[in-house]
Amino acid sequence: MDAQLARIHDAAPAVENFGQALVAGLGKTPKQISAKYFYDAAGSQLFDQICELPEYYQTRTETALLNRHAGEIAALMGPHAEIVEFGAGSLRKVRILLEAAKPRTYLPLDISGDYLRHVVRDLAVDYPTLQVAPVVADFTLPLDIPGDARRAGFFPGSTIGNFRPDAATALLRRMRGTLNGGGLLVGVDLVKDPARLHAAYNDAAGITARFNRNILLRANRELGADFDADAFIHYAPYNVQMQRIEMYLVSLKRQIVTLCGAQFEFAQGEPLYTEDSHKYTIESFREMAARAGFTPRAVWMDEERLFSIHWLESR
Ligand SMILES: C[S@@+](CC[C@H](N)C(=O)[O-])C[C@H]1O[C@@H](n2cnc3c(N)ncnc32)[C@H](O)[C@@H]1O
Repeated sequence: MDAQLARIHDAAPAVENFGQALVAGLGKTPKQISAKYFYDAAGSQLFDQICELPEYYQTRTETALLNRHAGEIAALMGPHAEIVEFGAGSLRKVRILLEAAKPRTYLPLDISGDYLRHVVRDLAVDYPTLQVAPVVADFTLPLDIPGDARRAGFFPGSTIGNFRPDAATALLRRMRGTLNGGGLLVGVDLVKDPARLHAAYNDAAGITARFNRNILLRANRELGADFDADAFIHYAPYNVQMQRIEMYLVSLKRQIVTLCGAQFEFAQGEPLYTEDSHKYTIESFREMAARAGFTPRAVWMDEERLFSIHWLESR
């Protein structure tokens, strides 16, 4: 049978938003931009390379957990489920759930539209009887997902860590609203030795630095900006107090950047704040999920307690 590939539901005028967001963020102190703008096609590909790095334990640990507990997860999702994946990326991890849970429909949702279109084509070839309905959207905005079926949510990769706790709670609550009573499977990176965390975001091959700098190159490509990207260095310390990696691009020289008809001055040594990556304990994440209106149920962790996967039920 041919792949049941629905027309792409495109709800993200992402380029327009990027320009407005960057102009607004460069006007703040410190200068800042949301991490969601990392993800154009080049950024998504660089993220996939990060997932292969020896220092980046997150992807292989979460994948191993999914493989080990796929049967239990499939039972919780139920037969013929409709799975919606938030921030779907490469669609690699979901294949484990597709094999185990045999869902009827899969809705991969991502802001990175070109990349989503590309990876969905390969998935549809490999799963010819699965209904695949990709959604290009920003999950921080109100979501208009077609249909009103009860859904099983999948939110891997510790993308939840990119949000400050209040925003993360609000995001989980909004996701719950799209599940129509179904549960949510969330991957959450755990608090651990700061040296291990530091290494994961400061890899020896410099891929995370390229990923970080891509946001400037994207602005140059899409918005006609003139960042001297080579004059920015990647800086990603672990803030022990806040239990998060903070990612910056630091200008090594004074430079004036023009974009969207406006000019912004970077002093020598001035940072652009690009990403937070919050780490949780099992308890602190479960408390947050409860604040978002979920009942936290199963939790799976590896022996080293590096990473966790949570099954949250809608109340
Ligand atoms: C950390 S990566 C995780 C990718 C993949 N789920 C994984 O586990 O490896 C974050 C993913 O979420 C997407 N994303 C980030 N912010 C988003 C937003 N506001 N709305 C929709 N997708 C978003 C990115 O394009 C990217 O694919």
